Amino acid sequence: MFNVQFLIHMKKTILVTGGLGFIGSHTVVELIQSGYTPVILDDLSNSSLKVLDGIEEITRVRPIFYTKNVLDTLAVEQILKEHNIDAVIHFAAFKAVGESVEKPLEYYHNNVGGLISLLNAMKKTGVQKLVFSSSCTVYGQPEKLPVTENSPVLKAESPYGNTKKMCEEILYDISKTGQDKTISLRYFNPVGAHPSSIIGELPLGIPNNLVPFITQTTAGWREQLTVFGNDYNTPDGTCIRDYIHVVDLALAHVKALEYLDKTDLNYDVFNIGTGKGSTVLEAIKAFEETTSQKLNFKIGNRRAGDIEKVWADCTKANTVLGWQAKFDIKQMMLDAWNWQKRLEK
Ligand code: WQD
Repeated sequence: MFNVQFLIHMKKTILVTGGLGFIGSHTVVELIQSGYTPVILDDLSNSSLKVLDGIEEITRVRPIFYTKNVLDTLAVEQILKEHNIDAVIHFAAFKAVGESVEKPLEYYHNNVGGLISLLNAMKKTGVQKLVFSSSCTVYGQPEKLPVTENSPVLKAESPYGNTKKMCEEILYDISKTGQDKTISLRYFNPVGAHPSSIIGELPLGIPNNLVPFITQTTAGWREQLTVFGNDYNTPDGTCIRDYIHVVDLALAHVKALEYLDKTDLNYDVFNIGTGKGSTVLEAIKAFEETTSQKLNFKIGNRRAGDIEKVWADCTKANTVLGWQAKFDIKQMMLDAWNWQKRLEK
């Protein structure tokens, strides 16, 4: 369906760093389906070429792909020049909170150094538009809920969260030079998979996150899910998060690119969530009801570093970006489960 927007986008080539990752791959699909031409840079440290096959299977387009690390500034420069890149969406980063506590230097080098390398390449080649993958982790444990973009950015709970905070500060500072135009999207909890079940969250090792642990336990890959604490100050004692479908999150990036072409601001920040908080037990209940599966879980101790409750006020993204999350937690769980079942085969 070639609407006006599609035709406007057709001339635009977008560099997607980390484009074979969980959120990156779903964003590449939506970019293609919105008329953009994505070029993917990914070092495959947390993904596989099978994801590129999946993108092609869904869209009938096989994007140009470079097995490169964003720290290779020269390589990034060459790609920006060769493909006349209009804007960059920067996903490439390490993202495991627990791992960042064990390996802080790797996280600062890869996440902060990687952004600086990208920015240098963009400066050298005159590419000025950037969408940055940030995280609600920057809010820490908010005093007031729901969090808005003006809520205080608190001390990060982990080196991972601190790299996101530092990257946002770097982007804010360089935006004052008036050259670049950057948007930071603060993701809440991305979950689920593409409704086709052709792409999803790749299971590499024991999952840190709740939803892949739920689906892998139900599929018999894991013994039992442990719910990390039920003595929090919440309705059922378990932590509250704002879970958002990865396709809704991907679509927010398309809207952010459109906004970059309209805004005069050099820097802006948006919460990308659903605006609805769910406890861990509510998430489990939604999974069981929508999949008719019984989850084997027990209540265990709290996990160090977990914040008690956070959910987003997304009014700004709704009104300024014209973006609204469409999928509810039942659809997230169903798509996550259908993806898990396909992995089995
Ligand atoms: C969600 C809830 C756990 C596993 C992190 C990052 C965030 C983003 C998403 C990168 C918590 C509980 C979990 C389990 C459980 N990552 N849980 N048993 O920690 O909110 O966010 O991942 O961008 O930046 O901070 O997500 O899915 O790990 O945990 O009870 O086996 O599920 O305690 O309350 P989290 P999560």
